[in-house]
Amino acid sequence: SAPIRLGIAGLGTVGIGVVKIIQKHADLLSARSGREVAITAVSARDRMKNRDADLSSYEWVDDPNELATRDDVDIYVELIGGDSGTARESVELALKNGKDVITANKALLAMHGQELAELAEANGRVIRFEAAVAGGIPVIKTMTESLAGNRIGRVMGVMNGTCNYILTRMESAGLPYEDVFEEARQLGYLEADPTLDVGGIDASHKLAILSSIAFGTQVAFDGVEIEGIERVSIDDIRRAADMGYRIKLLGVAQMTARGLEQRMSPCLVPAESPLGQLQGGTNMVVIEGDSVGQIVLRGAGAGEGPTASAVMSDVVELARGVRVPVFSQPASRLTRAQPARTAVP
Ligand code: HSE
Repeated sequence: SAPIRLGIAGLGTVGIGVVKIIQKHADLLSARSGREVAITAVSARDRMKNRDADLSSYEWVDDPNELATRDDVDIYVELIGGDSGTARESVELALKNGKDVITANKALLAMHGQELAELAEANGRVIRFEAAVAGGIPVIKTMTESLAGNRIGRVMGVMNGTCNYILTRMESAGLPYEDVFEEARQLGYLEADPTLDVGGIDASHKLAILSSIAFGTQVAFDGVEIEGIERVSIDDIRRAADMGYRIKLLGVAQMTARGLEQRMSPCLVPAESPLGQLQGGTNMVVIEGDSVGQIVLRGAGAGEGPTASAVMSDVVELARGVRVPVFSQPASRLTRAQPARTAVP
């Protein structure tokens, strides 16, 4: 059958990772897709920038909106980032112009996921975003496919690798927050706006996406009660360790009698538990299903290979012709869950 043709917008870490996988694993991908996976054209802000991949066989397009509307593109792959501007505009254009969309954009989905899902549905298109949550960990497909026979009771996890790096490094090196924050900055771990990381916002974007899938409700980022890690002190960490606990920036989403509870905050977790043993820049997601029990997924939540790996899972799924919406029902039928606020001091 005909190749599936991608237009890739954004050639940063993730975009280049996707190009490399498509070049390296062409045979594997076409065997798994049942058709060839081809890149038609690519787009990024700076054409002249030196990139660690051979892009010579793809057409270069300066404007992502052009990529999103071309006749020779089947899937628009948005790897630009940001919850507004070009990313949002081009995704909307792609859906209106008959393209399916794959994105790694957690902020865009957390803020506008509902309207984008409705737009996709109205245009008979689908939007896929495995890479938007917990990088390389296949958490979305685990919930929608592998755990399809379960009612999900609770989803929780450590979904910001930078915060996990900072907290584990504070503990292991005995360094104060400010020093480790600076270290993380120099290592390039922080988002352009570091508040997204340390303020718990990035992790909350991911939690809101996961809970909407888990509970079949609209993405409700504004329903997440958020506390970041900025006020966690080395003393807090030491005292927790003395009692056999570690402090993790933990996101928890569960449907309660009072409504949907979504919390992101520094939590004490037993040192010997799976969450307590999570070190450094990794992520962990724990899913509880009524038939399967507890599932623990651990892996890289960011970086070129892991995030591109997740993007490719969406490419192959669409190439195979799987077109059911990710949310458990049509977007237009999703309702807003009543937020269950816990008492905030
Ligand atoms: N800043 C994010 C993290 C990147 O540290 O996990 C991946 O979304």
